[in-house]
Amino acid sequence: MFDTMMPSTQVFEELKALLPESVVRQSEPLARRTTMRVGGCADVYLEPASEAELSKAVQFFHRSETPFMILGRGSNLLVRDGGVRGVVICLCHPNLSRIEAEKPLLHCGAGARLKAVSAKARELELAGLEFLEGIPGNVGGALRMNAGAMGGEMFKVITQVRFLDAGGIVHQRNTADIPVEYRSCPFFQTNIALGATFRGEPEAKEAIAQRTAQFNQKRWGSQPKEPSAGCIFKNPSPTLSAGKLIDELGLKGTRCGGASVSMVHGNFIINDGNATASDVLQLITTIKARARSERGIELRTEVEIIGEEHG
Ligand code: EPU
Repeated sequence: MFDTMMPSTQVFEELKALLPESVVRQSEPLARRTTMRVGGCADVYLEPASEAELSKAVQFFHRSETPFMILGRGSNLLVRDGGVRGVVICLCHPNLSRIEAEKPLLHCGAGARLKAVSAKARELELAGLEFLEGIPGNVGGALRMNAGAMGGEMFKVITQVRFLDAGGIVHQRNTADIPVEYRSCPFFQTNIALGATFRGEPEAKEAIAQRTAQFNQKRWGSQPKEPSAGCIFKNPSPTLSAGKLIDELGLKGTRCGGASVSMVHGNFIINDGNATASDVLQLITTIKARARSERGIELRTEVEIIGEEHG
């Protein structure tokens, strides 16, 4: 915490001097960097221009005991209203977002959007990456989450990952050597994902495009269009969908301030434009309490909740 560590203005100044190519800003609003569109500011915001500058930054954070976190596409993230103390890093610089083809492989930087990876695979007639199309995330966030949809998941379609360890050293590792769980890869809590190598299966473009269209149709028919953080809760079991459970509990439409449970899918909380993080968190508490008292089920959030309640 900066209360006892280096003041945030000093961290900002030191990063600016240390990383001449990178973007460094103070008091960066995070709401617009998340799909839920709520929450406060980051004390310091950093967009490293290269792996080398990111590595320097990480070494500085360790020396100065400055807290930091990596922000992905912000699609599975709820930032509390008081914002985030420390440094929030976004790997969205073009140098860290490249997609390089080496058929049947695609080497993708952490900042590459999953939709772009899917489109590139389609263009090169590589199948199996269609499910990435509708996930509103980037490669780094999807690795950390082991993101998935439509029966596919990240770690089933990648062969290697590139990452920075806690000391700022770059490594490459086969995915078979990295343990993963349902919607989580704990390895990337301490290591920073820099990119992944995807592997597709050769197939005609038309067949791939047709499957992509089917997935899009299913998604747009079953998910709300308003701002949300995707599915709020993990499915309690492989046979029980959290959305179906919330639907059965009669909670669709339940409102708290500017946040409400979507009428389209029970596992989505939507923002009508005026929601605060506190509204969303209160709804989460209400839903969990009902699932517990009426069905004895302990729902666990899939979205990552970060930051302070008060600024
Ligand atoms: N259902 C209802 N009412 C609802 C919502 C769903 O009855 O309000 C029923 C559906 O009709 C369906 C079943 O519940 O029969 C399952 O619903 P769905 O197909 O939407 O799948 P899900 O298990 O709710 C998962 C992922 C989604 C992913 C979809 C499609 C989780 C927690 N959710 O949802 O991922 O898009 O499958 O592959 O794993 C996300 O992670 O943010 C996310 C949205």
